[in-house]
Amino acid sequence: MSIVNKLETECDLSDSDLKALLETDIYDDKLKVSADKVRQKFYGKDVYLRGLIEFTNHCKNNCLYCGIRADNKNCERYRLSKGEIFSCCREGYELGFRTFVLQGGEDLSYSDKDICEIVSNVKAAYPDCAVTLSIGERSKQSYIDYFNAGTDRYLLRHETANEEHYKRLHPSSMSSDNRKRCLFDLKEIGYQVGSGFMVGSPFQTTECLIEDLRFLQVLEPDMIGIGPFISHKHTPFKNYKNGSISLTLRLISVLRLMFPKALIPATTALGTLHPRGREMGLACGANVVMPNLSPVSVRNKYAIYDNKICTGEESAQCRTCLERRVNSAGYKVVTDRGDAKTRLY
Ligand code: 5AD
Ligand code: FES
Repeated sequence: MSIVNKLETECDLSDSDLKALLETDIYDDKLKVSADKVRQKFYGKDVYLRGLIEFTNHCKNNCLYCGIRADNKNCERYRLSKGEIFSCCREGYELGFRTFVLQGGEDLSYSDKDICEIVSNVKAAYPDCAVTLSIGERSKQSYIDYFNAGTDRYLLRHETANEEHYKRLHPSSMSSDNRKRCLFDLKEIGYQVGSGFMVGSPFQTTECLIEDLRFLQVLEPDMIGIGPFISHKHTPFKNYKNGSISLTLRLISVLRLMFPKALIPATTALGTLHPRGREMGLACGANVVMPNLSPVSVRNKYAIYDNKICTGEESAQCRTCLERRVNSAGYKVVTDRGDAKTRLY
């Protein structure tokens, strides 16, 4: 049996088979066909929409790869008020979005009470919508409070599961252990959890990627977001080369085969490195896209990497653009909440 067939039937491979698969392009076509078959078995041609609202680019952290790191003095900072965040959701609702992702840097000027109020206001106005938070590492009690306020989902990429690698991407104030602790707390509380990692981040090896996959097998997240590392000119990693599109696509297919029912986004980073990057992501097994609903006035300030796309378009344009892209790839946008099919893989 070929390595791809084996992955498709068993949803798993040995480390050495995974290494072989990740380090060559000879299986790419087979992988893509197989991933699309599995994706269609569970999700048909459906692609879920998540409206992304980047509500603050203030961040207390200093991840070495990220353009909104605290030490980047070139970054013009902004915060959206509660009213502005709500307006983005209202606009999104009218455009057919039923999931809002409130994402920000780690900005403690929004207290737990503020976050709860923002979430509960959105849920009260739009009870048929899911609200996702993506605001980084917090205490378990904060996560419990946000959940009780109505938050349905939480996105927190683990970034890299390998401890040594983690230390090379982050300052010593951050730890891989705490990040993983957060993810397990979130699951235990009852959130639908999204995790993920960057592909081609500095110092990443195939072994790191295999550890990422193994970590995800333990965590069993509902959503897995990956995208290529893209350098940002005002970060310590400004001279490192960008991650590879083909390795990212290969990993999307591997994720689809290992986690058949997972929600896998075709990310903005993929679209930034290639004009049809997101369409290719969909063809390789992804089933989620995340149009930007942030006010256009702040879009280009949420620059986590260079040349980020979708910074000039109004929300409505971004949605239309993505719907066209989804259709051109042969899939169709659905407007329901798009919960994962089940937690059991
Ligand atoms: N290139 C690609 N992805 C990045 N992220 C942060 N900085 C970069 C970069 N330079 C990703 C991280 C984070 C997500 C919101 O964006 O994985 O979790
Ligand atoms: Fe935002 Fe195309 S998806 S402009």
